[in-house]
Amino acid sequence: MPLPPGPRAPALVNLIRFMRRPIESLLTWQARYGDVFTVRYAGFGTGVYVADPDAIRSLFSGDQRDLRAGEANSFLEPVLGQHSVLVLDGPAHLRQRKLLLPPFQGSHVAGFRKVIREVAEREVAGWRTGMRLVLRERMRALTFEVICRVVFGVTERERVRRLQTALMAVIDTGSLFLAPAPLRADLGRFSPGGRLARRLRAADAMLYEEIERRRAQHDLDQRDDVLSLLLRARDEEGRALSDTELRDELFTLLAAGHETTATALAFAFELLMRNPGVLARLCERLDDDAYLDATVKEALRLRPVIDGAERTLTVPREVGGWMLPAGVKVYPAILLVQRREDLYPRAHEFRPERFLEGAPSYSWIPFGGGTRRCIGAALAQAEMAEVLRVVLARVALLPERAEPDPVVLRGITLVPRHGVRVRVAPRADLGAGGEHAQSTRAPAVS
Ligand code: HEM
Repeated sequence: MPLPPGPRAPALVNLIRFMRRPIESLLTWQARYGDVFTVRYAGFGTGVYVADPDAIRSLFSGDQRDLRAGEANSFLEPVLGQHSVLVLDGPAHLRQRKLLLPPFQGSHVAGFRKVIREVAEREVAGWRTGMRLVLRERMRALTFEVICRVVFGVTERERVRRLQTALMAVIDTGSLFLAPAPLRADLGRFSPGGRLARRLRAADAMLYEEIERRRAQHDLDQRDDVLSLLLRARDEEGRALSDTELRDELFTLLAAGHETTATALAFAFELLMRNPGVLARLCERLDDDAYLDATVKEALRLRPVIDGAERTLTVPREVGGWMLPAGVKVYPAILLVQRREDLYPRAHEFRPERFLEGAPSYSWIPFGGGTRRCIGAALAQAEMAEVLRVVLARVALLPERAEPDPVVLRGITLVPRHGVRVRVAPRADLGAGGEHAQSTRAPAVS
């Protein structure tokens, strides 16, 4: 079965090109080969991108038995564990997912907003005029604390700090997860694998300690942090999650939820700084939830943190007019579908108003879709909205770089290469005629 056409460059060239300039590469390939194209990547194999909204919808909806998604994340299993919702497929995936979903739904997320505001206020209280910040780093600290409080239910600062040190040490070994198994092997104290194993043991010990402490807490029935809700959750056969399952899901929620949200926030601030008109409008309407949510949606449309979901076919299947063989990886192209001119006129512009005017929600998919759709989507959007609200109400952020921060691929996510470097200024600087607007030389690009 022939695969759809795509770039003919060697697989290593495709990979390097994609890592350095992911947005431009995808847009160029789509312009050249259409909405369904094949790319060979060194080390990651061959995948078929799909940027047609109907084809994506049929991949996300309907029977999922012939599509695997967990398999693609199996490289994370040594860290996240074999019960992680991210690495499972089929009925085992659905069981974990059903147990995990309720704590992340509407009413609970509404309750988390207050905690998010408190964490954001404490963070910004430490920012002084003239201070230089790498926003993505500050946002990482903030989103980590939010996870600790709303997911793990840990509030004591010293415990948050200890958890942060132990868990970040594992996550920061990140690049090793992508390395071949022999390189990850524990070959003694000084080997990279040995270091990872040691850090994992320390992080696990802390996670099991939190699970134990929470189980023993007398007010477990009244608590609404995610861990307490998971401890009370039962599947259809009345079974609770085991401690190992709880450990694996806690690690998964942290790994999937903190850096993605931090990056999305850094991108949102970057887009706002480069679009002073939108920034001024938002600053005037910080109490307007609809405009704030539209700004968050527009930022996630133009700067999705994950450029494409991934599904592996287990049987031959028709996708976007092509018959694809079993074993092929298909990437529903989040970035490309959100850039379609027919769905989002003047798609390269940052214009939150489009979501107030009724932009098509079925093609807005920064959180993927179907039975694999991001579990933390509502939490992430609430977090982004509340952090923007708190920060913009208190300070002005001025870009340190004249040009917008280039977007590059790091691991499996798109990130601003320099982390969005800013200088803190008093809030009074904001507005169309202020220092902020003058320092903004270039509008948002690509
Ligand atoms: C802006 C921030 C975030 C973005 C852009 C994002 C994006 C995504 C995407 C694209 C997927 C794959 C969906 C698919 O394959 O169809 C995913 C899955 C997932 N996300 Fe997120 N995510 C974010 C924040 C979070 C947060 C805050 C949490 C939890 C605390 C979280 C937990 C998960 C989990 C557990 C999955 C796996 C779901 C499954 O396989 O059933 N994410 N996310």
